[in-house]
Amino acid sequence: MKGRKINDSVCWMGAVDWSRRLFDSLVPLPDGTSYNAYLVRGSEKTALLDAVDPAKSDLLLNQLDGIDRIDYIVAQHVEQDHSGSIPLLLDKYPAAMVVSTPKAQGMLLDLLGIPEQRVLTVEDGKTLSLGDKTLEFIHTPWVHWPETMCTYLREDGILFSCDFFGSHLATTDLCVTDQAAVYEAAKRYYAEIMMPFRSAIRKNLAKVETHDIKMIAPSHGPVYDQPGFILDAYKDWISDSVKNEVVLPYISMHGSTQRMVDHLVSALAERGVKVHLFDLTVTDIGKLAIALVDAATIVVGTPTVLGGPHPSVHYAAHLANVLRPKLRYASIIGSYGWSSKAIEQIAGLIPNLKVEILDPVLCRGCPQGEAFAALDKLAGSIADRHAKL
Ligand SMILES: Cc1cc2nc3c(=O)[nH]c(=O)nc-3n(C[C@H](O)[C@H](O)[C@H](O)COP(=O)(O)O)c2cc1C
Ligand SMILES: [Fe+2]
Ligand SMILES: [Fe+2]
Repeated sequence: MKGRKINDSVCWMGAVDWSRRLFDSLVPLPDGTSYNAYLVRGSEKTALLDAVDPAKSDLLLNQLDGIDRIDYIVAQHVEQDHSGSIPLLLDKYPAAMVVSTPKAQGMLLDLLGIPEQRVLTVEDGKTLSLGDKTLEFIHTPWVHWPETMCTYLREDGILFSCDFFGSHLATTDLCVTDQAAVYEAAKRYYAEIMMPFRSAIRKNLAKVETHDIKMIAPSHGPVYDQPGFILDAYKDWISDSVKNEVVLPYISMHGSTQRMVDHLVSALAERGVKVHLFDLTVTDIGKLAIALVDAATIVVGTPTVLGGPHPSVHYAAHLANVLRPKLRYASIIGSYGWSSKAIEQIAGLIPNLKVEILDPVLCRGCPQGEAFAALDKLAGSIADRHAKL
């Protein structure tokens, strides 16, 4: 795709990656993604904000055909999906300087081999004049890495936000046209990338909001020409409030845990509690992460395998632990054959979750009357607690 004009001075450049299906070798991308770079032309100087994933360098280089001079390449974030093609750009533009936070400088050297003398560091709040345009740098640590910053184009009120407010979405839309589709993609992005840093996100959100933001141009997904939409969504996701929802990831090899799960789901539904159920043999872990953004409770379902939880459940519990969702309650249900440490082991996997553990239900083999009664009791405890949220 060719570069696309946002206004007389700002042009979207970059790559729409329609066929990528996995990010960071971990995160599923059902709708692809994009790596957005932006060219800002002032009366005296020209800056390129972010670059693209090295796999798509040729697309950016084609768009830059005919651009004879770039004075600054602003590296808002050192992760390679944005900075990986900067070394090629430095070869193409030998007079260009990379602009970054002081913390990013060392990372640009170590991760990308960029020479120190090509990096100009900028403190928080500092500005860079392009002539009739002014770039203001806003340090936003942990959105997504410790070195990250956003850039505010003062004269146009555009916030270039890099990963902040991004969405993994391949589209020909320059700006958001389908809010529902972008909401889902941006929530997936938040859940997988931003949620672990919720308190930092909250501070950085307040910080960028001190500016008059007319447009947000992230480095993934479409541009927000109505920024209130994504700002409000973020405020909801980072708030301390949780919803009357249970996330229930589980595995069952031979059907016993499955019967327990089915019973619990029904018992919760009868009590007015919404359940997000994930059979981990077929689950898109991005969907699981999205459900964790709002839920009050997680219940993990597992058979016992070699003494502890099934390895897929082990993975899901670890993932929930590192994503640090704002859960308040947790429990464990499952089945075993002779002896089990599944409960203790799962509880040990989630130290980051500041949750009250509600009475687990473990039963030998196929669940019967006593196990079903215990599951009803668990459903009741969850519903009672949710009623007081
Ligand atoms: C590969 C495998 C390993 C197992 N390891 C254990 C174990 O270490 N301890 C135990 O109590 N049961 C063990 N079991 C038995 C299961 O936990 C038991 O059959 C349980 O009811 C299965 O639940 P499910 O029907 O939900 O898969 C194992 C079963 C399998 C298939
Ligand atoms: Fe990133
Ligand atoms: Fe990114």
